[in-house]
Amino acid sequence: MRILLLTHAFNSLTQRLSAALLERGHQVSVEFDIADSVTEEAVALFNPALIIAPYLRRAIPESIWSRHVCLIVHPGIVGDRGPSALDWAIQNQEIDWGVTVLQAQAEMDAGAVWANVGFPMRAAKKSSLYRHEVTQAASEAVLLALQRFASGSFVPQAQAEMAARGCARPMMQQTDRHIDWTSDDTASVLRKMGAADGFPGVADALFGQPCQLFDAWPEATLRGAPGEIIARRETALLRATVDGAVWIGHVKRADSIKLPTTLAFESESQAIAEAPLQGYWRVKTPTWQDITYEESGAVGTLHFEFYNGAMSTRQCERLRAALVWAKQRPTTVLLLMGGADFWSNGIHLNVIEAASLSGGSAADESWRNINAMNDLTLEVIDTGQQLTVAALGGNAGAGGCFLARACDLVWAREAVLLNPHYKNMGNLYGSEYWTYSLPRRVGLDAAQAIMRKREPLTARHALIIGFSDACLSGDAPTFRADVALRAAELAAAPERPARLAAKRETRARDEALKPLAAYRAEEMMQMRRNFYGFDPSYHVARHHFVRKSPASWTPRHLALHRDLNWKAQA
Ligand code: COA
Repeated sequence: MRILLLTHAFNSLTQRLSAALLERGHQVSVEFDIADSVTEEAVALFNPALIIAPYLRRAIPESIWSRHVCLIVHPGIVGDRGPSALDWAIQNQEIDWGVTVLQAQAEMDAGAVWANVGFPMRAAKKSSLYRHEVTQAASEAVLLALQRFASGSFVPQAQAEMAARGCARPMMQQTDRHIDWTSDDTASVLRKMGAADGFPGVADALFGQPCQLFDAWPEATLRGAPGEIIARRETALLRATVDGAVWIGHVKRADSIKLPTTLAFESESQAIAEAPLQGYWRVKTPTWQDITYEESGAVGTLHFEFYNGAMSTRQCERLRAALVWAKQRPTTVLLLMGGADFWSNGIHLNVIEAASLSGGSAADESWRNINAMNDLTLEVIDTGQQLTVAALGGNAGAGGCFLARACDLVWAREAVLLNPHYKNMGNLYGSEYWTYSLPRRVGLDAAQAIMRKREPLTARHALIIGFSDACLSGDAPTFRADVALRAAELAAAPERPARLAAKRETRARDEALKPLAAYRAEEMMQMRRNFYGFDPSYHVARHHFVRKSPASWTPRHLALHRDLNWKAQA
């Protein structure tokens, strides 16, 4: 079937649906929702059998929905309407929630229902629910709706005829999100910040300066007067509530971008007492701990819970130090688990951008960050005493994919998407030793195609082409249990010592053929051009990415119908 994905951005949900539809043999093209006339043009060019809108911020024009079946993916249960569906579900402490695929009509979210899939709610940030439960339910619901549409006989049900507990809710306002630090308890602060995470954050003030708060972590032991900022730790500040305290990991100050809190309030934070962590062992009670280590028998596990999977220079350095420490432990398998939502998305574009905002050089910070990322990747490659496994329970992008590929094995959860390419960020060449690791795994031609095409790779496809070594089904908890079991088996396998010896031999042989330093030097020569050369594409792309500038056109590699040869092909 010819399907047009009409979307605000090619976000993870849209990528997941696109991949699922392509895998089922459909012809898929993407158009960003920029203006009604542009959408009309896209529909005329592509003439789709069906339009699916996974992520829209505006209504579809009548000129489109009156002539084509348009299926809207709404992150709410049947009957729920409005632009803040998940925000209300979290704040209202719904026990279960769902995704509904409904047909576009004049009234927003009021159309007939083609499919709906439910899920139990989890105490988590909105962005996390979106990336896990919503994305999974949306994929199932869209495929079900598609099957029903293809049958030609299914009649979507009017919402009024369905017994539904959902109702229309207005856009959530900052007054609904407001935190009163003198009366709100920790649970309600976490809920309010969770309901606003990703976007728009909770409007508040720190050090008397207005800002939006994101990325809340509970604290079990430290206490202070309600509302007072009582401690700092790396990127986060701790603020007391009436019955505890909450770490605030990220903020967006007025006229600025979203940044780690202690960077956004750099000078003010210096006056706050530091509450450092003692080592890497996972602390049993809740607190802010982005790098944690656990051990079970001969398996060591390193988690790195970096917000949005972005890794600044300092985070790369800290993770490398943790890795050096973990490598000294008496283990034979080392699991790199990344974070719950993302494994890694490479260098920290917001922190890099911040360098230019404070009068420094974004090029210099980019250079420092990629070098720190490379040092970390090298440390992974240079692990002689353990077999290393990257266990991807969440998505990975750009350099994050090649940090994972530096491990001996890559195991990915089936729902995970990989974007192992760099060019979308202003034609960045990329480093992290990808020129060494990628062709070795997939072959030179496939490596070049991956870089050129810039397409998301599903976990299943990554396994087929040899990028990864296992594709594990199930939700995040099932994946973690499965990974632990497989890692224990790997550690106990009789062939493990031989495998380790073979790995060292291969590395020595590869090094003799062409040293890793040579790969790095070649990559960094290109990166120097990207950062310091006459072509500013990377700086322009980063500027727009961190500010979330609205797209003014759909990238040509996504919009099939805008290809000059499209008409001939069609
Ligand atoms: N640095 C800083 N922030 C990053 C980031 C990075 N490298 N990668 C993602 N983010 C942020 C996004 O800005 C967004 O922020 P928000 O919380 O304010 O909304 C959040 O992470 C989620 O990103 P989003 O694009 O919505 O996630 P996605 O799962 O839909 O898409 C990617 C994933 C990887 C395709 C996309 O995030 C991306 O292209 N990231 C940039 C990767 C990159 O070029 N890295 C640098 C080269 S190594």
